[in-house]
Parts: sequence; structure tokens; C-alpha cells
Amino acid sequence: MSPVRVDVHLDDDYLAAALRADVREGLTAAPKFLSPKWFYDAVGSLLFEAITGLPEYYPTRAEREILVDHAADIARAAGARTVVELGSGSSEKTRLLLDALSAHGTLRRFVPVDVSESALRDTTRRIADDYRNLVVHGVVGDFTEHLDRLPGETPRLVAFLGGTIGNFLPPERAKLLASIRDVCGSGGWLLLGNDLVKDPETLVAAYDDADGVTAMFNRNVLRVLNRELGADFDVDAFEHVAIWDDENAWIEMRLRATRAMTVRIPLADMAVRLAEGEQVRTEISAKFRPDQIVRELTDSGFDARHLWSDYLGRYLVTLAQVCD
Ligand code: AVJ
Repeated sequence: MSPVRVDVHLDDDYLAAALRADVREGLTAAPKFLSPKWFYDAVGSLLFEAITGLPEYYPTRAEREILVDHAADIARAAGARTVVELGSGSSEKTRLLLDALSAHGTLRRFVPVDVSESALRDTTRRIADDYRNLVVHGVVGDFTEHLDRLPGETPRLVAFLGGTIGNFLPPERAKLLASIRDVCGSGGWLLLGNDLVKDPETLVAAYDDADGVTAMFNRNVLRVLNRELGADFDVDAFEHVAIWDDENAWIEMRLRATRAMTVRIPLADMAVRLAEGEQVRTEISAKFRPDQIVRELTDSGFDARHLWSDYLGRYLVTLAQVCD
């Protein structure tokens, strides 16, 4: 049996305090917002897995296609001993990477990092079962806070896939890329997945699927607040909204109150008034142009060495190396 370890930096107290602070900030702001981080409880993680299989949600398939085509190129270029995966979820696509790096003969350690403890424990167990020679060391953490606490030595290959970087506002993105550079270390590598700008119909459909799975995923954040903070959101009184913001080049998900209401949130010591039709932003998912990715990477101290797209040109995977 290969060694498995899970470090938990997000214990219940930490999570409760962070959620409480986020909710107090976001629901007293104008317009109101919530962080997409809170989507991913056990149910939310499963709903996201369901989203990745939807016909409208092309990013997962496009990214997988690129990894199938180029995992061997990545292994040859980066030749990593340690792979860190940020926001690993089920790490399903990452297996392509682990396979290629194992075949290349360099890989020793896999460090999946995720805010969802249930998803992470699942992932570490499964990967350890299937990769007997690998040290699997999971970290339950918030990758905007806990990146200085990762096990293993540098240089590292950091995989930040799924387009998750698009969930951060531009200034947060720059901060995150800078801390990822430190995780990679001198000579280290970043494998970044980004969704690309395309026609709004395709983009909106990907975030507003016909079966309403994304709507359930979106509304689930209110269930998280009800459970964790004792809130009394009437979840059915909210409609899922997904719009394309052309100026900012991002998809915005919101929850729209279908009636006026006052919501009590005891563990955040607050009550929130929502007007009929008022919308709470729950996620931005930025879409990029390749030259912009290269610029942001350059500005953060990376050299973008390889850019790969899927056949239909919907999605981009970039392999970048830390500049000396
Ligand atoms: C995997 C977090 C990047 O923004 O596309 C999917 C999350 N939200 N459908 C994305 C998501 C709505 C997804 N990320």
C-alpha cells in the first residue's frame, strides 16, 4: 500500500469563521455577492461533477482532449517529481498527467489541494489505490490562503486546471499567480487551463444548461448558508441567472430573489433584506484571449513556453516556467 496522508488546514472552526466573514462582507455590499468557494460542500462537489458531464459544458471535455494530446509533451518538458493540483476536485483529468509523468519516470509525489474535504479524501484514496508507487499527500485548504504550507520540495509542477483561475477578479488573479510562482519554485512549472472568449450563446448555455443542473449548483450555496450559519433562505424563492458581461469578458452567475424578503443569518449575527428582483452575484467565470494569458503570466514572473488548444479552439492549456 502506498503512503497516503491528508493535512487539514480547514477545520470546522476555520471554515465557519471564514464563511461568516465572507457572508458579512458580501451580503452587506451593494450589489450583494457571495464567494464561489462556498459552492463546494459534498453536495456541491457532486453537482459540479454532474456539470462536467453536461452536453452544454464543453470546458471539461476540451481540456481533457488537450491533456490526452499533450500529456507526453508536458512530461517531457517539465519532468516533475512533485505534482501539486489546485482545486483538484476528482482529479479525473489529472490522471492523464500522472500517467505521462509516471511513464517518463520522474514522478514521486502527488499533492491534491481542495477546499472540499469529502472530495479530497475520495481523490487521495482513489489515486493512491491506482498509483502504487506514488506518495499521495492531500491538503484540505484554501489555495488563496494555505499555499505556503504544501509538502514536498521544489521545483514543483503546479496544475491549475478547469478554468478555476477565471473565478478570481483580475487583482486577485495577479496575487494568486504570484503565490503559485512561489509554490513552483525556481525552475518550476505551472500548467494552467483557461476557457477562451467565444460567442455568448455557447458561453451562456454552458452556465445555464437545459436540465437545470447549474441552477441547482448555484442555489446550493444558499443551502450551505442555511446549514452552516443557521440561515433561513427560502431556496426555492431564488432563480438562477447566468449572463455574459462583454466588457469584463466574464460569465456572471447570480441568484435572483423572486420576492422581497428578510433572511436571518444567526451565526453571522445579521439579517439581510432583499428586494423583489434583487440579484446576488455568486460567481464570475472569466474567459480569456491567449495573448492576455501570456501577458498575465509574464507579469507574474512566468515564461509561457507552450500553448495548446483543443481542435475546436474553445479552450487553452498553457505550460509556463518560472523565470530566473
Ligand atoms: C471549474 C470553477 C472553473 O467557472 O466554469 C461551472 C465552475 N460554475 N458551472 C467554471 C462552474 C458553473 C467552473 N470552475
